[in-house]
Amino acid sequence: MKVTIDGIEIDVPKGTTILQAARMIGPEVAPPAMCYYTKLKTSGGYCRTCIVKVTAGSTANPTPMPKPVASCRTEVMDGMVVQNFTSPEIIEARKGVVEFLLINHPLDCPVCDQAGECKLQDLGFENGSSKTRYEFKRREYEMIDIGDKIKLHMTRCILCYRCVKTAEQITDGRVHGVMHRGDASEISTYIEKIVDNDFSGNVIDVCPVGALTDKTFRFKQRVWFTKPVDAHRNCEKCCGKTRVWLKGEEVVRVTARKDQWDEVEEFICNTCRYDHKKKSDWVIEGPSPIHRSSVISQNHYQHLNELKTRVLKEQKALGFIPFDKRP
Ligand code: SF4
Ligand code: FES
Repeated sequence: MKVTIDGIEIDVPKGTTILQAARMIGPEVAPPAMCYYTKLKTSGGYCRTCIVKVTAGSTANPTPMPKPVASCRTEVMDGMVVQNFTSPEIIEARKGVVEFLLINHPLDCPVCDQAGECKLQDLGFENGSSKTRYEFKRREYEMIDIGDKIKLHMTRCILCYRCVKTAEQITDGRVHGVMHRGDASEISTYIEKIVDNDFSGNVIDVCPVGALTDKTFRFKQRVWFTKPVDAHRNCEKCCGKTRVWLKGEEVVRVTARKDQWDEVEEFICNTCRYDHKKKSDWVIEGPSPIHRSSVISQNHYQHLNELKTRVLKEQKALGFIPFDKRP
C-alpha cells in the first residue's frame, strides 16, 4: 500500500497505521505520541497528540477526511495522502491538544524526577504554545505509594492508560486502573493495594510524565548528571538487558532500554530493576545511545573537553607542535 506523508511516499503492508508508516519514514514526519505504545495492545486513541490531516482518503476514494484523525488508530489506505508538520491547521490544533494536556499538569519540572526525559516537556516545547487560557482551579491529589517501590503523583498524570495496559498485559493480576470518568478520572490501585508482581516496575518506564516514579531513584540525581550505559546480566525472569544509570561508580537506577521513539525495547523484571545496584552486578556493554537533542547528552560536551585536554597533554609529551603554533 502506498501512502504519502508530508510529501514523502512509502510502501507499507496492509494494516499499518498512519503513525507506524510515518515512523518508517523517520522522525521528520512522525507525529508525537503520548499514549500509543507499540508493545501494548489497544494502546492509543486517548491523547490526540498524534492527529494528522488526511487530504486524500485513498486512490479509490480521494475524498479528504473532514476532521483531523488520530494517526495511531487510523489504518493506511492505498493512495492515501497525509499532512502532519506541513499542515498549519494540524500545528495549530496540536497546540490546543497540548494546552488541554497541560490544564491540570503542575509546572513542577524543577523538582520532578522525570525532568529531562519527560515526553510532556518535549511535547510542550516542540508543539505547544507558551500561554494557557485556563483560569479555573486545577486538580490536585495527595501522592500515594503503589507498593514500596513506586510513587504515584496523580496530579501529574495525563491519563494515557499506558500503565494500566502494562499492568494488564505483562503482569499477572492487575490491581490498578482508571476510576471514575471525565474530569474526575484517576489512576487508582483500588484502595492503594500493592502492585506485587515481578514486572510491576515497568509501569514507571512506560509513564510519559513524572506521575509514576521509582522510589529508589527519587530525588537522588538529575538525569542529566548521570551517565547511562547499556548493560546485561544473566536473569531467569527477564531478558536481563537493561540501561544502568551511573553517577561516578554508583548505580543510581536501572531501567529498561528504550528505542528512538522512547518505547521500552524489552520489559525487565523487578529483580534487575531494584536488586542489582552495584556496578559489579552488570556486564557493561558501552554508552547508551542518547539523542543529541536530549538534555542527557549534554555531558558529552564535557567528555569532548576531557578528550581535548588529554590529547593536548599527549601531544605535548611527544613534543608535537600544533599547526597553528608552528613558525
Ligand atoms: S500514571 Fe503515567 S502511564 Fe499511567 S495513565 Fe497516568 S500518565 Fe499514563
Ligand atoms: S498517540 Fe494517538 S491518540 Fe495518543
